[in-house]
Amino acid sequence: MHVIICSSPEEAADLVAREILDALSRKPDLVLGLATGSTPIRVYDRLLHAHQEDGADFSGVRTFNLDEYIGLPPAHPHGYRTFMHDHLFGGSNFTRENIHFPPTEGPDLVEKCTAFEAKIRDAGGIDIQILGIGSNGHIGFNEPTSSLASRTRITSLTEKTLRDNAPFFDAGEPQPSMAVTMGIGTILDARRILVQAFGLKKAEAVRQSVEGPVSSFFPGSALQLHANVTFHVDAEASSRLTMQAFYRRSQENVKELEAKNVL
Ligand code: GLP
Repeated sequence: MHVIICSSPEEAADLVAREILDALSRKPDLVLGLATGSTPIRVYDRLLHAHQEDGADFSGVRTFNLDEYIGLPPAHPHGYRTFMHDHLFGGSNFTRENIHFPPTEGPDLVEKCTAFEAKIRDAGGIDIQILGIGSNGHIGFNEPTSSLASRTRITSLTEKTLRDNAPFFDAGEPQPSMAVTMGIGTILDARRILVQAFGLKKAEAVRQSVEGPVSSFFPGSALQLHANVTFHVDAEASSRLTMQAFYRRSQENVKELEAKNVL
């Protein structure tokens, strides 16, 4: 597990966006796993900028979103399709047919979830998965007690998640309590995972994910089972990590090797 303690969320977003754009330059039909929430917005800003100012071409990129609420019509202002349109797809040249969201409507929703997994496999698997983390440790909408082997499926949201996400809904507006999410097993199949977490609100989630025991009771900890994960955190989100000095020194060591052209 790599932990990069960044000077700011901006620096984290620079690093994550740079890695995605580098991968895109090597593989124009890159397969990206995308997240919603406030955390990845700065990365999407940078990808938009790269398209609008520097000509980055996303037309061949295949995308798979992590999760979506059940019960919201596709164009609902608080649905994740709208979020992705507003923050990334609308201002860039992703191709409509290459954009995939977990299914949320019947009939045969369970079979559709299996078909979503098959689409990921048919695309050759996810090259880079972008992730945020819920304050209760959820990744995607894999809530505590989600099986570490889980696949794309229908899930219920915890009270904590409903409270955390309530501000995104208007007062009095019904808030969905179910969703379809990629499973933890689906996420762990990605070849590279880039996690970001910012602010004190995420400090405990980061501590448990990075330094806690692997447990389905804290889904972020499942990332310890993946060989190529990097956590990009700011000082506040890293504040409960016990090995901060080690992570900082490891960062310096890597920079030194890079400078010497060893890497
Ligand atoms: C939501 C999403 C997650 C996201 C999490 C954190 O519940 N389903 O994929 O990582 O919230 O959100 P935020 O980035 O706003 O803190």
